Amino acid sequence: MKHSIKVLCIICLYFAAMNNTTMAQENTTDQKVDSLLSLMTLEEKVGQMNQYNGFWDVTGPAPQGGNAATKYEHLKKGLVGSMLNVVGAEEVRKLQKLVVEETRLGIPLIFGYDVIHGHKTLAPIPLAESASWDLEAIEKSARIAATEASAVGLNWTFAPMVDISRDPRWGRVMEGAGEDTYLGAQVAKARVKGFQGDDLSQPNTIAACAKHFAAYGFAEAGKEYNTVDIGTSTLFNTVLPPFKAAADAGVRTFMNGFNILNGIPVTGDTFLQRDILKGKWEFDGFVVSDWASIGEMVPHGFANNLKHSAELGAKAGSDMDMESYAYVNHLVANVKEGKVDEKIIDDAVRRILRVKFELGLFDDPYRYCDEERENELLYHKDHQAGVLDMALKSLVLLKNEGDLLPLQKNQQKIAVIGELADDKNSPLGSWRLGSDNNTAVSVLEGLTGLGIDFKYSKGPKVFNKDANFLNEVEVNETDTSGMEEAVALAKESEVVLMVLGEHGFQSGEGRSRTKLGIPGLQLQLLKEVYKVNQNIVLILMNGRPLTIDWEAENIPSILEAWQLGTQTGNAIAKTLFGENNPSGKLPMTFPRSVGQIPIYYNHFSTGRPNPEPNVFWSHYGDEKNEPLFPFGHGLSYTTFEYSNLEIDTADQKNVTVSVMVKNSGESDGEEVVQLYIHDKVASVTRPVKELKGFEKVSLAAGETKKITLVLTEAELGFYNHSYDFLVEPGEFGVLVGTNSQKGLTGTFTID
Ligand code: NOJ
Repeated sequence: MKHSIKVLCIICLYFAAMNNTTMAQENTTDQKVDSLLSLMTLEEKVGQMNQYNGFWDVTGPAPQGGNAATKYEHLKKGLVGSMLNVVGAEEVRKLQKLVVEETRLGIPLIFGYDVIHGHKTLAPIPLAESASWDLEAIEKSARIAATEASAVGLNWTFAPMVDISRDPRWGRVMEGAGEDTYLGAQVAKARVKGFQGDDLSQPNTIAACAKHFAAYGFAEAGKEYNTVDIGTSTLFNTVLPPFKAAADAGVRTFMNGFNILNGIPVTGDTFLQRDILKGKWEFDGFVVSDWASIGEMVPHGFANNLKHSAELGAKAGSDMDMESYAYVNHLVANVKEGKVDEKIIDDAVRRILRVKFELGLFDDPYRYCDEERENELLYHKDHQAGVLDMALKSLVLLKNEGDLLPLQKNQQKIAVIGELADDKNSPLGSWRLGSDNNTAVSVLEGLTGLGIDFKYSKGPKVFNKDANFLNEVEVNETDTSGMEEAVALAKESEVVLMVLGEHGFQSGEGRSRTKLGIPGLQLQLLKEVYKVNQNIVLILMNGRPLTIDWEAENIPSILEAWQLGTQTGNAIAKTLFGENNPSGKLPMTFPRSVGQIPIYYNHFSTGRPNPEPNVFWSHYGDEKNEPLFPFGHGLSYTTFEYSNLEIDTADQKNVTVSVMVKNSGESDGEEVVQLYIHDKVASVTRPVKELKGFEKVSLAAGETKKITLVLTEAELGFYNHSYDFLVEPGEFGVLVGTNSQKGLTGTFTID
């Protein structure tokens, strides 16, 4: 059966009964939703609010016992509205068929999955993509992800994560856009557009999900699932804007989170979900809980038991329960006992059905289940080209003393050292559930592919056994075998490429760390090599900023390569040998030491910001205040000169800031021109600087371009403690430059 005929017929009958066939033909999505809702029992409505995890091989026989059998029965009774972690055109089709054909109303399921930076073909991790500051490329990358995901039956991704975080101890910084609200908001929009396109009913678009609403990135001490306690100024000005940007871009779903925020679990937070999201922002999609987060309100000490959780979650605006079994088991009773108004249920179901209609699931519940399309699109060569382009743009050149990079092909004796150089798995990152292990192009393969002659020595092993998604990564701290051989190779070589860093599975969910140096014996290896050969290029692989002060002090060239996904080795090789001129800029500050964290560029001034001869000013006794590498930092093989800063305030609602940027070096390149402002005096104090505009510009060697950036009220204002948006008169400082610390400065006044 191609169409969900059962539902359409029922809806038609309903309209016919109203003796209004013209209206039936012309009815809008909301009318369809309402008519369907009017046919549903309370149990069926609550069923739409229930999401289960995948549970058995869908193509196999029906499960006979246990939890899987219960889920199977619930599916047949219309008590499930969505599944997650069911993947594959055939699997999805079988399950969809079960629900469409066997339930009373035949309402199709919506299938969700964590398609974070690709499905099979993987782009760089989101933090790396954000380092590109290239919104068009980021949008394209999300489209590639959507194309592959939709080809395997999926119609909904749990991305983008738009949590701002200033704490690299938190493993999930790899999944976001970094520390900055403005950049985060632009990236959020690009990702939503990429996943959803202009028309959600197209077979290559999927619904996106802005998560984790809200403030999960502020987990205390960077410890996963930890408490969040922040003030309204940070919540309104730093945390919420990327979510609002996603909502404004039309994101169809939100996910709440595991954390409490100022004492209230966000899953049970009425202020966030009802007053802000569905109220002020008029969001008409639906909110899914995070995994079991409705049930987790019990250990948080907010709900007495699961039934109470269900009541609190639904009232607060969590429309769909992911794997807590709270709604399916208790919501009907809560309504019957008068604890939850049925209007709340109706509102949630309306939202869920609306998205299903928009996805075209009622026209054709199997529209995403085309095996031919699946075979054709997974790992498609166009996708490989797309993620390679994204990877090339995501690399950040942190240091390049004496222009050691780029290297000339086959002119020097090259040593490659480090276990990660030969790793085809780690560069895929940790959030790659849909992809296949060992499918990244390794650095060694990338170099070979480019025709580079080199010798390789692995050095001491870094990881004790194969790392995986579920368990802690075991790092070798003691076994130095391989060290001598690596040092000997370095000694006889002219240039040493050291590929060092974290394993892809050392960042991501549940991967908090307190030590942020390069793990295991790798720093010792680097120091030993340095003793015999200082001509070193350090290629760093990591899912978060690391503390690399010794490396930054001593190693001439450092290339930040994150985890770049499927095309990792090709992107790195091309960049090392000048086929790509790096243009990425850090989306997160690199600290000198863990004790500086949280360290971020847009901090506030203290009352004692400046050095004093005594100790009574804001500083550390044992560390600098400055970061190792600031937000926005990133070099190129060429150089850029900034001149002629002009600020035009004639139109106070469109302050125009322009600057001339010249490529003053010898190779073509791209520069991210960054605009920061400082509202010097305000009724709620403002940070010392805030990014409010940027443009990535391509300049041929010797070329100069005028870059103009406009500050509207949206950039000039801020939220006060009552969530009013204000633009206050007074003086603003301006910095336009190559990173958050270096550029031309000026001022202007708003009357
Ligand atoms: C928990 C994570 O916090 C969330 O981001 C993810 O989407 C869900 N699990 C589903 O896998």
